[in-house]
Amino acid sequence: MSIDTATGQEAPAEISAERVKEIFSAIAAKYERFNAVSSFGAYKAWLAGMMRQAPISADADMLDIAGGTGDVTFTVARAKHPRHIQCTDLVNEMLDVARMHYDEGKADGVPVDFEVVDAQDIPYADASYDVITMAYGIRNMPERDRALAEMFRVLKPGGALVCLEFSTPPNRMWRALYTFYLKHLIPFWGGLITGDREGFVYLSRSIQAFPNQQGLAAMMEQAGFVDVTWKNYTGGIAAVHVAKKPEA
Ligand SMILES: C[S@@+](CC[C@H](N)C(=O)[O-])C[C@H]1O[C@@H](n2cnc3c(N)ncnc32)[C@H](O)[C@@H]1O
Repeated sequence: MSIDTATGQEAPAEISAERVKEIFSAIAAKYERFNAVSSFGAYKAWLAGMMRQAPISADADMLDIAGGTGDVTFTVARAKHPRHIQCTDLVNEMLDVARMHYDEGKADGVPVDFEVVDAQDIPYADASYDVITMAYGIRNMPERDRALAEMFRVLKPGGALVCLEFSTPPNRMWRALYTFYLKHLIPFWGGLITGDREGFVYLSRSIQAFPNQQGLAAMMEQAGFVDVTWKNYTGGIAAVHVAKKPEA
């Protein structure tokens, strides 16, 4: 099934695919500022949480899905020193910023390759990666079941998917405050700071339309993943899910 990622309603995949390409190719150069604003600076703490939960060993070959400007790739490189990282994204302009950071030495000597890849149609062989990371990726994909099935396919048996995404605060009061912030403040002040109101309107809508922690876990299980766990950050505004591919 394919959806419109801004509403969660069934819709042709092209609607979301075109929008996401338009938004991210336009904001690539200022994405890092956009990221800081949209998470009100908390994204660094969430990324650190993702690193604590990620089972990445020094001999791992890792695939970063929706890697964007490389924040996860470079953080893993410095924190875990894996053998190799394949940093992928749908939008080449985002990867151009990541390539620039790589040339500046941000990977701390870890070999990184960059490639334009649609997560819903991954051009790699079955069972080729030990770990997959994905931060703020799945929410932007109109065919999420297909993307998760593709990630499951390219993981080695026993491998893990580590997914950081905006989520739903379980506490009613906190959720109400956050929903107000999402609906009314984020498009306004995000637009003001970055000059890109449209990107923030989409961000706000796509977060509200995205499944909660249990819903995402169920989608992962549907794709074949087992032992799905998650940890909430900032009261559930973000969550890191870890899902395993069963041992052969
Ligand atoms: C919010 S950014 C996250 C980038 C990076 N992971 C980070 O943490 O900064 C979302 C990224 O998802 C990418 N994306 C959207 N749909 C995708 C798809 N179908 N396959 C691969 N990447 C996709 C976008 O191009 C964009 O770079």
